[in-house]
Amino acid sequence: MRTKKAVEVRDLSYKYLDARGIESSFSRFKQVLKNISFSILEGERVSIIGPNGAGKSTLLLNIAGLMDKKYRSGEIFIYDKKLDEKNMYNIREKIGFVFQDPNDQLFSTTVFEDVSFGLINYLNKKKDRRAKDKKYIDEVVKNSLAKVNLKGFEKEIPHFLSYGEKKLVALATVLSYSPKILILDEPTSNLDPKNRGEIRSLRTPISKARPAEPQAVVTAAVLIFSVDFHLLIIYHLSSTSPKEAIVP
Ligand SMILES: Nc1ncnc2c1ncn2[C@@H]1O[C@H](COP(=O)(O)OP(=O)(O)OP(=O)(O)O)[C@@H](O)[C@H]1O
Ligand SMILES: [Mg+2]
Repeated sequence: MRTKKAVEVRDLSYKYLDARGIESSFSRFKQVLKNISFSILEGERVSIIGPNGAGKSTLLLNIAGLMDKKYRSGEIFIYDKKLDEKNMYNIREKIGFVFQDPNDQLFSTTVFEDVSFGLINYLNKKKDRRAKDKKYIDEVVKNSLAKVNLKGFEKEIPHFLSYGEKKLVALATVLSYSPKILILDEPTSNLDPKNRGEIRSLRTPISKARPAEPQAVVTAAVLIFSVDFHLLIIYHLSSTSPKEAIVP
């Protein structure tokens, strides 16, 4: 059986408008990604390594369809569907994206609201009646928090959580709707050893190939974390192609 391609990136380049952010004939651009091509098969876990400012977050945000396509060239495919305006709606639900900074992800007044938000949205999109089934939503939120070792955090106020706890809640917000592709931007950075361990322990449930678990995981990671992954892609983002290495 042919293994499906979860993500395919073809000749991707991306540039940012300069700091003033106003496009004019005097605008200058900063080229961040240059002619990147690679694919990630279903079931693969891939880490993207590169120094600060190399473009790891920019690459992940592009794959998740969260960047302005005006400044992008090349193509991105998610499960063979091209990432464009027409397919964006269907592609977004396949991807769970966790921002490098959890403050970019959490905006509600309770952890429950933050974790249920993506799930309810997803169910509403599918016209699934469970969107209004309080017992079902409660159960999924409870399970998602348990997966990140934050049992009973439903009523906590995200703003007052520690940075590590916020990172874990941010992860729970996407686990709640069981995306096929999980994209984690530096999931363990800035965490204390306890929270670092908790994010790592997440790998256990993810790696059990249950239908509702992610089929591919992409992270921007520090080396110490990425050595646990099956496939390591080392990017020299300013060069033309990635170097791949199998990690024992
Ligand atoms: N909104 C923006 N406007 C202009 N330049 C930007 C913007 N966001 C990022 N950049 C620049 O693009 C480059 C790549 O940034 P990016 O955040 O993708 O790097 P990174 O590899 O994720 O870094 P880190 O390891 O610090 O997370 C950096 O030089 C950064 O200054
Ligand atoms: Mg980054």
